[in-house]
Amino acid sequence: MPRSPEPISALVLAAAGYLPARASSVAAGVDGVFAFIFWLSAFFLAVIVLATAIFVWRYRARPSRTEPEASPDHDTRLELLWSGIPLALVLVVFAVSTKVYLSMTSSEPGSAPLEVQVTGRRWSWRFDHPGGKGGNELHLVAGRPAVLVLASTDVIHSLYVPEFRLKQDAVPGRYNRMTFTPTLPGTYSILCAEYCGTNHSRMEAAVVVHPDQASFDSWAREGVVPEESLVELGRRVFTDNGCVGCHSVDGTPGVGPSLKGIWGRAEKLQGGATVVVDENHVRESILAPGAKITAGYDDVMPPIPLEERDIQGVIAYLQSLKEAP
Ligand code: CUA
Repeated sequence: MPRSPEPISALVLAAAGYLPARASSVAAGVDGVFAFIFWLSAFFLAVIVLATAIFVWRYRARPSRTEPEASPDHDTRLELLWSGIPLALVLVVFAVSTKVYLSMTSSEPGSAPLEVQVTGRRWSWRFDHPGGKGGNELHLVAGRPAVLVLASTDVIHSLYVPEFRLKQDAVPGRYNRMTFTPTLPGTYSILCAEYCGTNHSRMEAAVVVHPDQASFDSWAREGVVPEESLVELGRRVFTDNGCVGCHSVDGTPGVGPSLKGIWGRAEKLQGGATVVVDENHVRESILAPGAKITAGYDDVMPPIPLEERDIQGVIAYLQSLKEAP
C-alpha cells in the first residue's frame, strides 16, 4: 500500500502513542490538517512565551526606574500587521481543512461501493450488510469504497472510528451518508461520539476490514441469518400495509406510480421540480406523502406511520426491485 509522506508532528505523536493507525483513504489528509494546526499553534506559543519573557525582563521594576517610560500609544502599521497575519493564517487553515472535508463528503464512491445500513439506538449499533447479514459488527473490504447510510431510532448518535479519522451523526428523522474507502485490514473500535444518555460511553461496536472481497464473501455466507433480512422485512411491510394496492412492483401504473426501477431515478413532481429517489425521499413519501407528489398522480395517499426499521426495510426492498432483471 502506498504511504503518503508522514507529517513530522504526526510522527512525533504517533511515536508517543497518541495517534492510532491510519486505516482509511482520508486519514492522511486529516492528520495533515491536524499537523498543520498543531505546528502553527506550537510556533505561536513559542513566539508569545518568548516575547512575554523578554518584555517582563525588559520592563521589570528597578530602583532607577520609578516612572513609566514614554512610549507611543498608537501604531497603525503594527495594528494592521497583527490583524492581517492572523486573518491570513485562519484563511489558510480554512482552505486546507475545506479541501480535506470536501474530499470526505463529496467524493463519489468508486465502482460498486459496499453499502451498509447503520442504525444507532440507545445504546448499541446495528449494521445490515448486502446479502442479509446483520448484527453489531460492521464488515468492510480494504480498498473497496464503502457507503454507510446512518439512521437513528431515538436520539442523535455519532459513528466514530478513530483509525478512519471519520465521524458522522446518526440523526432521528433522516438518513446521513458516510462515504470513504478503508485501506488497512484489521479490526477497529466503533465509538459513539455524541452524548446520548446513560450508557453513551459503552455504545461500542467493532468494524472488521477484510483484506479482500473473498474473505468478506465467506464471512457473509457463513452461518445462518438469525432473523429476516432487511429486504424480506421490507417486502413483508410492503404487503402487510397494502402498499401494493396502489403501487405495483412490475412497472404497471396504478393509483400511484409503480415502484419498479424507481430507486435512484430522477422523478418529475407536480409543479415541475424533480427529485432523486433516495433514502430521504422514500422516508418522506411514507411519513408525509403529500409533501412531494409525482407528476401525473393525485395527492391521495395517507401517511403511513412506520417504525424506523420498517422504513429501512422498505428502502432495501425498493433497492432490490432495481437490481432485479
Ligand atoms: Cu450513542 Cu452516544
